[in-house]
Amino acid sequence: MIVVSAASGAFGRLVIDQLLARCPADRIVAAVRNPEGVADLAARGVRVRLGDYDDPATLRTAFKGTDRLLLISSPELEPSRRAGQHQAAIDAARTAGVGAIVYTSFLGADTQAHGVTAAHHATERALSASGLPHTLVRHPYYSEAFLNAGLRAAVTSGELASGTGGRGINTVFRSELAEAAARVLTEDRHLGRGYDFTGSLWTYHQLAHALSRISGRPVVHRDRNGRAPGAQGWLEDQVRAGALERQTDDLEQVLGHPPATLDQAVTEILTPSTPSAPSAAKPAAD
Ligand SMILES: NC(=O)c1ccc[n+]([C@@H]2O[C@H](COP(=O)([O-])OP(=O)(O)OC[C@H]3O[C@@H](n4cnc5c(N)ncnc54)[C@H](OP(=O)(O)O)[C@@H]3O)[C@@H](O)[C@H]2O)c1
Repeated sequence: MIVVSAASGAFGRLVIDQLLARCPADRIVAAVRNPEGVADLAARGVRVRLGDYDDPATLRTAFKGTDRLLLISSPELEPSRRAGQHQAAIDAARTAGVGAIVYTSFLGADTQAHGVTAAHHATERALSASGLPHTLVRHPYYSEAFLNAGLRAAVTSGELASGTGGRGINTVFRSELAEAAARVLTEDRHLGRGYDFTGSLWTYHQLAHALSRISGRPVVHRDRNGRAPGAQGWLEDQVRAGALERQTDDLEQVLGHPPATLDQAVTEILTPSTPSAPSAAKPAAD
């Protein structure tokens, strides 16, 4: 049995889709805090169980009979509360006799105990201390925060502004990380590994070029004066500091093919039939 926690979210649903392509539906469990919200998954044959990170008893029940658990990190923003939720899930997994845990961590969490990786760092340590077999899949920022339908406005105006200082960005779409998670859950070669997943590196200058080439309309990049408001400014500060330039081939190794290129992403965004992705980065736990 493969259990996916927080399965009702955008990432969890994509993982369930990938698992359904790989194993029988009745071997897949969606553990969610609101079972009524995933009636569509139940209709596809997926087992649905109550599993609330704030209610350990529900986790112990949800994780019974589990060979592999995908522990998707909580969206809780307060680090100690978030780490506590993950600890509760790990404790419940031990009590329930879970065979192995795959945890969605974040790049840098192996070494950085503070800032955006604080809760992930604590969770990685908790997993080590638990003695449970596990695999760490460290995610970069989702591409959707940067490469989304909002870019169509740049094609219309002919201008793409950023405050990234020409530094590189590596991001990966949720769908690719979901495929990787499904592979890690269903293949035997990943136990005990810690993967640093990164996508292809791109800059806003290259993005403006890709928008021009693929739309057939000129788009120029402009360095923004001053900081963008809200989450966008916060993300761009990290890009300017060079924090998103790390490159590994871990994702390609797990997928067996390279992740999407910038041109592929832009082509998809500019194709009229593509459903709109979120148009701006929302404040979120990474
Ligand atoms: N790498 C990145 O760029 C990035 C960006 C944002 C977030 N993240 C992290 O990646 C995770 C998955 O991302 P996503 O896009 O799928 O997020 P999402 O769509 O916001 O989904 C979050 C999920 O967490 C569930 N959840 C919230 N509180 C819970 C609780 N107490 N117990 C059990 N489940 C709970 C939600 O359940 P409900 O459906 O009941 O609300 C939902 O299923 C996030 O939770 C966050 O830790 C990463």
